This record gives sequence, C-alpha cells and structure tokens, in this order.
Amino acid sequence: MHVVVNAAMSADGKLSSRRREQVEISGPDDFRRVDELRADVDAVVVGVGTVVADDPSLTVDDAELRERRRENDQPENPARVVADSRIRTPPDARILDGEAASYLLTSEAAPNDFVAQMEEAGATVIVAGENKVDLSAAFEELAADGIDRLMVEGGGELIFSLFEEGLVDELSVFVGPKVIGGRDAPTLADGDGFVEDFGQLELTEVERIDDGALLRWDVRS
Ligand SMILES: NC(=O)c1ccc[n+]([C@@H]2O[C@H](COP(=O)([O-])OP(=O)(O)OC[C@H]3O[C@@H](n4cnc5c(N)ncnc54)[C@H](OP(=O)(O)O)[C@@H]3O)[C@@H](O)[C@H]2O)c1
Repeated sequence: MHVVVNAAMSADGKLSSRRREQVEISGPDDFRRVDELRADVDAVVVGVGTVVADDPSLTVDDAELRERRRENDQPENPARVVADSRIRTPPDARILDGEAASYLLTSEAAPNDFVAQMEEAGATVIVAGENKVDLSAAFEELAADGIDRLMVEGGGELIFSLFEEGLVDELSVFVGPKVIGGRDAPTLADGDGFVEDFGQLELTEVERIDDGALLRWDVRS
C-alpha cells in the first residue's frame, strides 16, 4: 500500500486555529491539486477529530475527474475512511452520505450499538486495537479489501501516529500565507512527538502555488 499524507498549513505550521475550526489556508490552484490527488487514490483517511471539526465530504469535486475514474472502472469517488477508536463520528456526518464507500476504523473499546449504527449507515467497520485504532493492522485489512493507494488528509494527531508507526511513504504540504499561532492550535504532526529517531524526509519538489508553496517529500525508511 502507498500512503500519501497531504495537508495545508500556515506559514507557522498550524493546520487550523486554537478553536479547531476550519481555516482557509489554500487557494484555488491548491484546491485543484488536492482534488486531482484525491481522484488518484483508492481511499482518503482522516481522524475523527477532523470529522467532528470540519465534517468534510472528502469526495472529488471536479466532474471530469469523476468521469475519468468511471472510465477506468473505478468508483466515482475514493472510499472515505475515519480512524475513530470509540465511534464519535455523528450518524449524519457527510462521510456517511452514500456518495462513496465509507470505512470506520475502530477499536474494541467502541460500544457495540455504535458499531451497529455505523453499519446501518452503510459503513464497513474494521475493529483493530484494544483502546485505540491499531493503524498498521487496520491498513492491512484495507489493503485486503483492494485499497492500494491511500491519501491521508489530517489532522495532526492522526498524522503523527502514522509517522510513528512508519506507515507514511510521501508527504505533501501546502504552506500558505497566514500566521495562525496559538500553542494549542493543531500542527502538522501533534501526538506526543519524537524526542529521538525523528521522521526523516527527502525533499522531492518545491513549487509556488497560489500565494504559497507546495513542498513534497519522500519518507526515508
Ligand atoms: N489544514 C489542513 O490540511 C487540515 C486537514 C485536516 C484537519 N485539519 C484541522 O485539524 C484539526 C483536527 O485535527 P486533530 O489532530 O484534532 O484530529 P485528527 O487527527 O483528525 O483526529 C484525531 C483523533 O483520531 C482518533 N484516532 C483513532 N486512532 C488513532 C490513532 N491510532 N492515532 C491518532 N488518533 C487516532 C483519536 O480519537 P479517538 O481516541 O476518539 O479515536 C484522535 O483524537 C481541525 O481543527 C481541522 O480543521 C486541517
């Protein structure tokens, strides 16, 4: 499985403000780039923090890109995947709207009736891990379901865990022309952070987009 993390951050490394509400960091050209990236993968993954904060749809916006997927015998939209250990995803979340396949990655700590509610809403529930989603095991199950290319769209807690578990192959970051600040605002990689054995990257691309810069990195294994 190939895993790409994509995010937009402010010039000072924040994904949003301390209120954890969506902040517009990208411009139209970067939105288009992200839409193309989405159209190119089998599934898009977010943490439940992002679902609760932003209620994203994670579908492909451009009709031509959706058509191109259909022509390639792919579903119009990639599957939507949420890492959600106790099932905090609201039943009316947009990722459950039926526009694409939905997966809930959860843990044994999730109440059975919540699991049943998500299945009724049409989601495939994968249980991996005792109290927190075991991302490596859950990704293996996604791979067994035919998901080869996976894009991670945040947030900072999930992204750190993925680096910690060595599950990231590529990182694309749009750095936008804003300073958000705030010690409690989410950053690109939160969690507990590394104190040694830091994630090591190799820069592969630098491009000016809108009023910011796209940085692409390969993750060194
Ligand atoms: N600028 C951007 O590109 C961008 C993109 C996405 C989000 N955002 C912003 O980021 C913020 C949300 O980020 P966030 O860091 O709070 O939340 P997040 O990373 O989206 O979700 C974190 C949650 O995922 C669940 N989770 C399940 N298994 C996990 C695991 N193994 N490791 C880590 N988390 C796991 C945990 O909740 P449980 O313990 O309940 O399972 C955890 O609290 C919002 O403000 C949103 O607007 C910005």
